Amino acid sequence: MLYPFIKPLLFSLDPETAHHLVINLARLSPTLGRLSGIPLSPELSVKVGNVEWKSPVGLAAGLDKNAEALPFFAQQGFGALECGTITLRPQAGNPRPRMFRYPEENSLRNAMGFPNAGLLKIARELEHFESEIPVGANIGKNKDSTPEESIDELSVMMATLEDDVNYFVVNVSSPNTPGLRALQEKSYLSELFKELKSTSKKDLYLKIAPDLDDAKVIELTKLASDFKLAGLIATNTTIMPERGAGGISGELLLNRSRKIRKLILAQQAPLELIGVGGISNFQDVLEFWKDGGKVVQLYTSYVYQGPSILKKINQDALSFLKKHQLKNLEEFFSQRSIRDFV
Ligand SMILES: Cc1cc2nc3c(=O)[nH]c(=O)nc-3n(C[C@H](O)[C@H](O)[C@H](O)COP(=O)(O)O)c2cc1C
Repeated sequence: MLYPFIKPLLFSLDPETAHHLVINLARLSPTLGRLSGIPLSPELSVKVGNVEWKSPVGLAAGLDKNAEALPFFAQQGFGALECGTITLRPQAGNPRPRMFRYPEENSLRNAMGFPNAGLLKIARELEHFESEIPVGANIGKNKDSTPEESIDELSVMMATLEDDVNYFVVNVSSPNTPGLRALQEKSYLSELFKELKSTSKKDLYLKIAPDLDDAKVIELTKLASDFKLAGLIATNTTIMPERGAGGISGELLLNRSRKIRKLILAQQAPLELIGVGGISNFQDVLEFWKDGGKVVQLYTSYVYQGPSILKKINQDALSFLKKHQLKNLEEFFSQRSIRDFV
């Protein structure tokens, strides 16, 4: 209700200034989260790995990097929240401007480079956050650390946050940290997963880029299964050099991202897949369900549509259950052939 009035003001500001304004408001007034959000219906809960999502739509990483406004986002209607990307040491990220809008295409471009307050500060926020909405910590390497050092860094972060989050995500897919995407190599990831699996009992996900070729996607899916990860998150932002540095999200990313998700699901690996990239309405969610997926995350469409996107998707999901005479989403996902329904 409020967002249509606030949006023109926010969109008159530089995107990052608008972002900080929203995060500060959200941090100072979690009640606004409830007033502009929706209560969740128990029918929409769904088990993802070992974690109970309270609806099939989660908050993607990058919006609340420092976990400073989680009490606000927990009341918006998201089924799970992901903070980060967190690095061991605080870092400033790339020089500004580093966030750009493409309003006609409902898309964004960012070249943030993991600006964040660092592990210790964010750990304090997570320690104090209490909610029934599950929280994931998305972790990545500091810009100046080597791949070898990064294995220890990620392990320390997981050990520190182990009791305060429900799942972890290793982010090796941002286009904005030089050399980061090279860490999608099998040899590095094998070392990394060996270490991280012995550090934490929590569900572990790998977040991948949409710019990988098919063979690489299949290789990473196999690797994630071999190391008994909880699953993959697909995808991060995509590079479109003709538009400038950084990664593109939103509508312009949808097809590329969807293709990767379809390919992963076609492998029928014993993994969860959290779908993210260009999802902006219930049709997109339904398409993902048809392919065999369960839960999605949003960033860019939440920026363009505001909290009403959660209301729309959650209401459409409830109508879908009713139409097919299903008790709840769990019943839908437990049917042998999901495709028969849709
Ligand atoms: C401004 C901005 C910052 C982001 N920062 C992160 C980040 O720190 N870590 C991460 O894993 N993904 C980050 N992302 C990527 C999103 O989590 C998501 O994967 C991507 O935007 C595609 O989803 P969307 O089309 O719904 O936005 C960021 C995206 C945006 C737009």
